[in-house]
Amino acid sequence: MTKVSAPGKVHLIGEHAVVYGEPAIIAAVGRRTTVAVEKSGSFIYSDSRFGNRNEFSREEALEKAAEAQRLWKDCFEKKNFSELFSFIKNDGYGNYRKAAVGLLAKKFGIDSGMKIDVHSDVPAGSGLGSSSSLAVALSKAFAEFAGKNLTLDGVNETAFELEQIIHGTPSGGDNSTCCYGGLVWFQRSQPKNIITSLKDEINHEMDGFVLVYTKPPEKNTGELVQLVRNLEEEYRNRRVKAIGSMVVEMKSALAGADFGKVKRLMNMTQENLAELGVSIPEIDEIHAAVKRIGGAAKLCGAGGGGIMLCYHEDKQKLKETIRGLGYEPWEAELGVEGVRVEK
Ligand code: MEV
Repeated sequence: MTKVSAPGKVHLIGEHAVVYGEPAIIAAVGRRTTVAVEKSGSFIYSDSRFGNRNEFSREEALEKAAEAQRLWKDCFEKKNFSELFSFIKNDGYGNYRKAAVGLLAKKFGIDSGMKIDVHSDVPAGSGLGSSSSLAVALSKAFAEFAGKNLTLDGVNETAFELEQIIHGTPSGGDNSTCCYGGLVWFQRSQPKNIITSLKDEINHEMDGFVLVYTKPPEKNTGELVQLVRNLEEEYRNRRVKAIGSMVVEMKSALAGADFGKVKRLMNMTQENLAELGVSIPEIDEIHAAVKRIGGAAKLCGAGGGGIMLCYHEDKQKLKETIRGLGYEPWEAELGVEGVRVEK
């Protein structure tokens, strides 16, 4: 049996704007997705988070992969991914699982069936990069199963292909962070994205942060990215540019451990994301309460619910404030190791 794990991720800053070419700072977070694979007659895929099991043939997987790729091209031309999203979501994301398996089996020349068991403590659709950590762990696990010694860049490129069929036009920041791990500066660029580790520049502990889970988002990442894309261009671009400038300032604030500035930037980002329409009343309420006690809070990832990242020098006070609103804060271990083969 081959076992691979990859972490989830948290956006310290830059989500949504990163889709339009602005930089983002993203940390690998200490919650992981583990994929175990072994040879089997057909493909049997189960994910303990959902308690479901999909059994299918190689032919069906290849068909779904081809269909997903065809739909992606059509939708890309139309600049509207609704058709791809409804295909992928069909049968509780069963089509995604089959398409992902088909794509990987074809890529790595796998002729046999496989039993694929997924365990994860990254909640699905929470803004913690559940799909990316899965895509990275699946890509590496299939490559290992096929006896291919895939480099980290190879794993990342493969995971991005899976991310495209579930999210349409993701930036690639999430999968890059789940793959390489640590603290990542990410920017979309041609011919190659800029992916730099910030570990040397930001080498102090980042321990005043906690996570709060608000509620499951009604829309997935691709749909929320689409919602922002549908905004009037000038309105959107003004906020996107503002977030981009804050990311640059955040890098020096973090490097200099200027947490007063870190807090101001986190709060300003949240306000811009709310103007982009991806916040919800629960997030706004937590943001306002944490801000009132002199802290900072922002949504993470696509928004619409899910996880928030909160900061206060007095972590105890922060936790009490969050509990006072009826939520349970989670510890945030930031900058953990990326994808790895488990013994
Ligand atoms: C989602 O975790 C982050 C977004 O910026 C989308 C992306 O970067 O692909 C909303």
